[in-house]
Amino acid sequence: MSENKKILDEEKINLADATRVKYFDIVIDHGQGAIITDADGTDYIDLLASASATNIGHSHPKVVAAISNQAKKLIQYTPAYFANPVTASLAKRLVDITPGNFKKQVVFGNSGSDANDAIIKFARGYTGRSYVVSFTGAYHGSTYGAISISGVSLNMTRKIGPLLPNTIKVPFPDQTQREAGESDDAFSERLFKQFKLPFETYLPADEVALVIIEPIQGDGGIIKAPQKYMSLIYEFTRKHGIVFAVDEVNQGLGRTGKLWSIDHFGIAPDMMSIGKSLASGLPLSAVVGRTEIMSSLSAPANVYTTAGNPVTAAAAMATLDVIAEENLVARSKKLGELARDFFEQAARSYWFIGDVRIYGLNGGIDIIDEHGKPDNQATTKLIYRIFELGAIMISLRGNTLRFQPPLVITEEQLTQSFKILTQAFTELAAGNLSLPETDNHIGW
Ligand SMILES: Cc1ncc(COP(=O)(O)O)c(C=O)c1O
Repeated sequence: MSENKKILDEEKINLADATRVKYFDIVIDHGQGAIITDADGTDYIDLLASASATNIGHSHPKVVAAISNQAKKLIQYTPAYFANPVTASLAKRLVDITPGNFKKQVVFGNSGSDANDAIIKFARGYTGRSYVVSFTGAYHGSTYGAISISGVSLNMTRKIGPLLPNTIKVPFPDQTQREAGESDDAFSERLFKQFKLPFETYLPADEVALVIIEPIQGDGGIIKAPQKYMSLIYEFTRKHGIVFAVDEVNQGLGRTGKLWSIDHFGIAPDMMSIGKSLASGLPLSAVVGRTEIMSSLSAPANVYTTAGNPVTAAAAMATLDVIAEENLVARSKKLGELARDFFEQAARSYWFIGDVRIYGLNGGIDIIDEHGKPDNQATTKLIYRIFELGAIMISLRGNTLRFQPPLVITEEQLTQSFKILTQAFTELAAGNLSLPETDNHIGW
């Protein structure tokens, strides 16, 4: 029996279903750069980067060294009670590298989810208001606050309510829903009307604490809000004294070809959540926000024993060094252009490839049927075949290919992954792919 299967069979007895969205029956044993290796010793090109949590690649030597050196000095003393040098340095660095020419402060957390919870707490604390506005298609995390403002899967609501009160969702400006011939501006105006509808009918703006958005939705399908729409809602928050926050957990740290996804829009948000790749996948998140907002609560309003842990902070310092030294933001942009060329060409060659959205080494590629409708089965066939051919790619919202390799992927590895994708596309076009034989439901 394969080692993968042995481990999975045993794990299945002990691990609850709610913790994993199922894709392929592999066990990741180790990784280096953009290559991961399973428990049977098979290599794969990683086109997922641990859900955008290893932007600088797996086990980067500088991060490994930073973790090990810090572990020799001090693994943990809770920042909830006493400072340590590396966490203090990281707080300053995050203030320096986030947008906004105003005074900022930082809180640390253990996950993107608790960072978004913190945003809700501080926005409420600062404004003295309770309502929170977020967007359909959003994924902000799995703690009660973050799950309450998410809108991407029924399983994030089903059976677990009541959720956090006073949370409202408005439609995300999903460009795939644009009417034929509708310009960016017209689409933005139409969606802004929908944004304003609650405010005009049942939601007094002066009771709203927060508008939180992923400027480019990640799990929602890698979908970028139009510039005009972002400007309109940002201006709306200015007019009504509402905190404007962005979630950079998925799309931050170079993923989109800019350091932050909000940098595409020239807006300095009041607050920003960061996680995933910050410590190369070690559990560390942060919220950076205007000092007047961040000073509105007192300890222990947002205290966690391990948040800002020195080993994770050292990993984050090394990760930020690598992003700068290896010019990974520019690399994401440059290699992202190769990816755009490849997927746009593929869309011309294969009728089942619909909308292609690429922002840096970061893409959502829709798979459609002959009527132009989402084709979830074809998507599953494709990702399974891509897996068999040696690359890891998963789907989003059923019919979107998720393309998020580590930013250190070599051009050779990228070319190899394009070859694998082309083979899978060609086989699907020839009607040669079938659904995998597995007892697992695949995907979200
Ligand atoms: C945009 C965004 N925000 C927040 C989160 C939650 O982060 P975590 O899983 O670390 O709690 C995610 C995770 O996928 C995410 O994509």
